[in-house]
Amino acid sequence: MNTQPIILDTDPGVDDALAIMLALGSSELNVMGICTVSGNVPLNTGTRNAQGLLQLLDCPEIPVFAGADLPLKRDPVFATEVHGESGMGQAVLPEPSRDVKGDAVEFLVQTLSDQPGEITIIAVGPLTNLALVEQRQPGTLQKAKQVIVMGGAIAETGNSTPVAEFNFYADPHAAHTVVHSGAALLIVPLDATRQVKLSETDIENQIAPMKTVASQFVVDAVQNVFALYRQLGREPIVYLHDPLAVGAAIAPELLRAETLYIDIETTGDLTLGQVVTDRRGLPSPYRLGTPVDCAMHVNTEAFLSLFLKRIF
Ligand code: RIB
Ligand code: CA
Repeated sequence: MNTQPIILDTDPGVDDALAIMLALGSSELNVMGICTVSGNVPLNTGTRNAQGLLQLLDCPEIPVFAGADLPLKRDPVFATEVHGESGMGQAVLPEPSRDVKGDAVEFLVQTLSDQPGEITIIAVGPLTNLALVEQRQPGTLQKAKQVIVMGGAIAETGNSTPVAEFNFYADPHAAHTVVHSGAALLIVPLDATRQVKLSETDIENQIAPMKTVASQFVVDAVQNVFALYRQLGREPIVYLHDPLAVGAAIAPELLRAETLYIDIETTGDLTLGQVVTDRRGLPSPYRLGTPVDCAMHVNTEAFLSLFLKRIF
């Protein structure tokens, strides 16, 4: 089987960790490196999480590259209320045996330039690293075979604000740069990712009984988000936002995309990070934004089955 070379750009975070597990458990993908960016947790915390996870999964040979520790322009925001201060919920990761390999932006620029048209970037955190790639060497993102981005909300409400999804809210200027980069983009927004989730019962019945190091990590990692949902009076669930973006690389047929004219709000007080979609149906010279493929429909059952099979 021809494996597909990918680079993951992450802000580990619990669902980022699940996305890394899915990628490493899928023989269709060749993970060339894991980049980290400030997002769910500060950069250093997320980088240690990526390293510790690779140690836990016995994949210390996968290189980790640390990226931006601040958004392009706005003040940093984190999501520790969801992922815990450590970013890994209640899970404890081993000390990494290997140092960070290098700078994420440099790695992305070099690798995309050396292998044009071959590499799929899967970005599941704020897009600061990808925007810095484009600033450093304009046109580089167009050298990716595809750039799959978990981010945004089209018809769905936001999660960080009523209208903005976290990855785009945490660095709206970076999201704007990537959307307008001319890269072969596939956006996987909350409209798709909210269709794939695991309940506390799923974790208790399908994952906890496995009693492996990896399954215990997952059980421990989701405890913070379950506690948050209980505090909100909601059923404890974990959305598989980031794993679905990896799923789009493994089995694209499980998602159906629409080409939508979108732009990103970079100045609004109430709307910062919002994806504004022009659905007026006007002829193209009058439309707002740029045409981007957005995954809006998911074969939920097939993805969940693939996910649970692959991560363990
Ligand atoms: O809105 C969901 C996204 O924000 C996911 O990538 C999650 O890890 C957080 O970064
Ligand atoms: Ca993430």
